[in-house]
Amino acid sequence: MEPLVVKEEELKLTPFNIEDEILALKKKLNAVILAHYYQESEIQDLADFIGDSLELSKRAASTEADVIVFAGVHFMAETAKILNPKKKVLLPDLNAGCSLAEGCPAPLFKKFRDEYPDHIVISYINCSAAVKALSDIICTSSNAVKIIEQLPAGQKIIFAPDKNLGRYIMKKTGREMLMWEGSCIVHETFNERKIIDLTTEFPSALLIAHPECEESILARAHFIGSTSALLKFTQESDANEFIVATEEGIIHQMLKKSPHKKFIPAPPNANCACNECPYMKLNTMEKLYLCMRELKPEIILDEDLRLKALKPIQRMLEMS
Ligand code: 13P
Ligand code: SF4
Repeated sequence: MEPLVVKEEELKLTPFNIEDEILALKKKLNAVILAHYYQESEIQDLADFIGDSLELSKRAASTEADVIVFAGVHFMAETAKILNPKKKVLLPDLNAGCSLAEGCPAPLFKKFRDEYPDHIVISYINCSAAVKALSDIICTSSNAVKIIEQLPAGQKIIFAPDKNLGRYIMKKTGREMLMWEGSCIVHETFNERKIIDLTTEFPSALLIAHPECEESILARAHFIGSTSALLKFTQESDANEFIVATEEGIIHQMLKKSPHKKFIPAPPNANCACNECPYMKLNTMEKLYLCMRELKPEIILDEDLRLKALKPIQRMLEMS
């Protein structure tokens, strides 16, 4: 597909304020803008709702808007479409994928699943519609433990596609799970040695971490939770300093809610910006404006696949 660009003549139109243009389009389309915490700050500030994956799915399921503009990654917009087949779901950049979803191709996952027919398949929401359709129940980082705990004792479980979240759930619940060995490129980047150095530099800072982080980081964390749970913890905690081991976009909301507190992004292994999700950051204000103006890129799903993928999402919504 040809990349959409704002033409120079348009930018010369005075006054052209991209925020005002987006808000005007939102009104015209009766659209809702849903954004994940990992989006750039300007997008977060403009969104109607910001949340973690579970909250965004719930909001997508209940919206009365005609158009859902999803400022997040592909699997999130796809989930919104699965829940809202009649609504137009737009994603500012169709290349906004996810290393977890990409590391679990449906044909290979089917082969793996078919080898263990007596296992129930629990998949993290960070996967494609095709993998969802091969799953029994979907979960997110905020409801995974609760869902696994509801399974009958002795029930054999396959967990996909995040081995780090899976290992964390096994530890919390004491349940054995057969794991698909995927991981998130952002949450795997945090360097334990550099985090230890930071805790020496900021001795009263608490380390807070997303469960997609590696075991060695989680073992040191004072608090582990989904993006929303991390945000809530920083608001409710008496501590004033936090080392944040998740994508750095969430720090924008943390600072907004607690402007007097200090948030230190957990450092990546290399001297890079690897604690920014390259997929999430593909969405920009310009692409947000263009997708609303052009009503594309749009998420389109085969109806048969949608119905198969819907069942495990509905089970998740019932169980969480
Ligand atoms: P949550 O939004 O559930 O915290 O997950 C984070 C994430 O990596 C989204 O891709
Ligand atoms: Fe996927 Fe990781 Fe980016 Fe989340 S942060 S969208 S899990 S690559």
